[in-house]
Amino acid sequence: MSVAPAGTALAGGTDGPRALRSFLDTVLDALTTGAQDRSGPLPPGGPDAVARAVRDTCLPLLPEHGTGPHAALRTLVHTLAAGAADPADPHCAAHLHCPPLAVATAADLAAGALNPSMDSWDQAPAASELETLTSRELAALVYPRATDPDALITTGGTESNQLGILLAREATHSPRTTGPLQIVCGANAHHSIHRAAWLLGLPEPVTLPTPDGTLDPATVHTCLAALTGRTGGTSRTGPVLLTATAGTTDSGAIDPLPALADLADHHGARFHIDASYGGPLLFSDTHRTALTGLARAHTVTLDLHKLGWQPVAAGLLAVPGPATLTPLGHQADYLNADDDTEAGLPDLLGRSLRTTRRPDILKIAVTLKALGRQGLGDLIDRTLAAARTLADLIDAHPRYELHSRPTLTTVLFRPTDADDTTLAAIRRSLLSEGHAVLGRATTPTGLWLKATLLNPHTQPGDLTTLLKLVEGHTPR
Ligand SMILES: Cc1ncc(COP(=O)(O)O)c(C=O)c1O
Repeated sequence: MSVAPAGTALAGGTDGPRALRSFLDTVLDALTTGAQDRSGPLPPGGPDAVARAVRDTCLPLLPEHGTGPHAALRTLVHTLAAGAADPADPHCAAHLHCPPLAVATAADLAAGALNPSMDSWDQAPAASELETLTSRELAALVYPRATDPDALITTGGTESNQLGILLAREATHSPRTTGPLQIVCGANAHHSIHRAAWLLGLPEPVTLPTPDGTLDPATVHTCLAALTGRTGGTSRTGPVLLTATAGTTDSGAIDPLPALADLADHHGARFHIDASYGGPLLFSDTHRTALTGLARAHTVTLDLHKLGWQPVAAGLLAVPGPATLTPLGHQADYLNADDDTEAGLPDLLGRSLRTTRRPDILKIAVTLKALGRQGLGDLIDRTLAAARTLADLIDAHPRYELHSRPTLTTVLFRPTDADDTTLAAIRRSLLSEGHAVLGRATTPTGLWLKATLLNPHTQPGDLTTLLKLVEGHTPR
C-alpha cells in the first residue's frame, strides 16, 4: 500500500493509530495553550471580541492550498479552546453543560476513529452488541422489576422527549380513539415537550401552573378528570399523556412522581417522565430515593451529557419492554432486508428515527465500566454536596437571598437589594469579563441568578470566590 501524505492519512486500520498519535500531540498542546490563554471560564470581551479573534486566526477557511494538518489543528483547536466556555472551570455554572470526563472523551476519540454507523449490523458489528448490552444495563436501573427493559440512544433530552411523545401517540392511536393525543405538562416542563407536540401534529399541551416549581397533584387531578371525562371508564375526548419532570431546567426540582403515577393510572393516561437532569441519581445509594416512582412511567428520558459527565451527545429513552418500541420498526432494503433479518443479522433501524448514527454508546460504556455504579454515585453525591454548600454560604451571607434549598445541583440566588434589571446586568458583566458564567431563571418571584453545579471537583473555596465575584458587581 502506498503511504498517504500526512493530511490524508486515515484513522482506521493498523496504521491509523500511528497517524492519530502524532496529531494528538498537536491537539493536546493546543488545548493546553488555549486554556492558558483564556485563563478563566469564558473568553473576555463578549461576542464581538471572540468573533474577531476567530476571524483573525481562522480565515481563510477554504484556502486554495491547505496549511497541512498540524498547522490547521494547532490554529483551530487553539482558537476554539481560547474562546471556549469551559465547564471544567468551577465558575462555569450557567447551564446543564457538563465537564466531560477525560476517560469518556478518550473513548469518544476511538469512536471517531472506528466510525461505526449504528444503522446496520454490517457497519457496526461489535458496537451494535455493545449498544444493546449497555442500553439494557441502564434501562434496568430505571425499571428494576421489568423483565426485559430497554433503552434507545438519542442525541439528548430533546430527542428523547420527542420519541417518548411519538411512542405515546402511536400506542394510544386506534380506530376507536376520538381525538388526538393531548399532552398535559407543567409550566416547569422543558420547552422540548411543546416543540415535540408541534412537530408531531398534536394539540398545544395543556400547561398547568407550577407556582412552587413542581406539579401539584390536585391541579393535575382536576385537569385529567376534565380531559378524560371519567374517573374510570372510557375517554370522552381522546388519549392523554401526562409528562412530569425529574430535575427541572430552571431549579432542578422533581415533580411528585408517585402521586402523578397514581393519577395517570387512575385516569387511564399515559405517563412520560423527563429525567434528563435528575435521572443519574439512580447511581447514588444516598440520593436514588428522590426518584421513587420513576419506574411507573411508560417512557423515561435520561441524559448523560448533563449529570453524567459525558461529551455531547449521550441521551437515552428508557422503556420497560421491547413492545413499547414496536412503532419505530421500519424497513429499508439496503439496511435491513427481510431475508437478512431472518438469517440472523440484527435489525438496528427501528432503534432510532435517525439513519446514520454515532456510536455514542462507547464513551458511556467505558465510563460505566471504569467507574462502576459506586464511582458514578460518588460523583453524584459530591456534586449534590457542592450545591448544598453553596446554598449554605448564601443562607449565611447577609447580602444574598436563597430561592430554596437545592434538590439537585441548581442553586437560585440573588443579592437582596438587586432588581431584575440589575441582576441581568450583573450576569452579563461577569460574562463579558470572562470571570464567571451564571445562568438566569424567571420564577413567580422574579428573576434569579442560577448556578448549575456539574463539576464534582468543585471546592468550597471556589464557591466563596463565585459569590465574591457577584458581590463585586452588585451596586451598594
Ligand atoms: C429537563 C430537561 N429536559 C430536556 C432537555 C433537553 O436536553 P438536550 O439539550 O440534551 O436536548 C433539557 C436541557 O437542558 C432539560 O433541562
